[in-house]
Amino acid sequence: MLFSFVFSLMTFGTSIAAQPGEASGVRRCIKCHSEDGLETGDGEPFIAAQPYAYLVAALDDYQAGLRVDKSMSKHTKTMTREDKETAARYFAGLPKNYPRQPFDAQLAAKGATLHARLCEKCHVDGGRGFNMQDTPGPILAGQSARYLQAQLGQFMALDRDMPSNMGVALLELLPGDAIALVHYYVSRGQ
Ligand code: HEC
Ligand code: HEC
Repeated sequence: MLFSFVFSLMTFGTSIAAQPGEASGVRRCIKCHSEDGLETGDGEPFIAAQPYAYLVAALDDYQAGLRVDKSMSKHTKTMTREDKETAARYFAGLPKNYPRQPFDAQLAAKGATLHARLCEKCHVDGGRGFNMQDTPGPILAGQSARYLQAQLGQFMALDRDMPSNMGVALLELLPGDAIALVHYYVSRGQ
């Protein structure tokens, strides 16, 4: 009896360890962000391999109401600092296997020029890196086109907080520029 009880505990322990993410407390995140940190088909951002500090900052912002999203506001509500750091560590540590997305080469070329003039200062290496003193930021290269487009819309409608110097850059965009930038970041791929 005792032996089989201990044995079942052991196999239970093994099955937890065998489920990626489960042991690190990110099970409920995986429902939408999947085990590999990619979307599950509802316009979620790819969060695999995003910088750790940026992921923590994003979770802080949803929790504080600086970013508003029905799912994320709900799921960050009761997270402790440790929960946020654990989740960020898990997703930041995943490989960046973003799916290939189609793009229009002409729009991407237009986006490249806009990016170099307005965005490269912080979103360095064509959006593959980020460099702004004391402020964490995201990787844009290869990010979900649908998500990028939605976020640029939110920034421009002042629905999402951003550093004021990024606001200055976005103010320079003419109609049609935002979509060109999205095609450019998609072209910077995977
Ligand atoms: C019900 C679906 C759902 C669940 C569960 C969920 N998310 Fe999200 N998550 C989303 C959506 C949708 C967005 C995009 C929201 C927006 O437009 O701001 C998002 C955005 C994010 C972002 C912002 C990424 C960026 O590039 O700025 C992070 C980080 C994130 N989620 C982490 C998590 C973590 C960690 C958990 C678990 C505690 C979690 N999410 C649970 C749907 C979900
Ligand atoms: C002065 C630095 C700076 C400049 C210039 C800048 N950004 Fe940003 N960007 C940031 C920071 C910081 C964030 C993260 C904001 C946050 O934490 O919510 C960000 C976030 C973003 C996001 C959200 C990505 C995500 O995963 O949610 C997009 C999209 C974006 N920037 C696009 C652009 C584009 C396009 C330009 C040029 C027109 C630009 N940025 C110029 C600093 C900058």
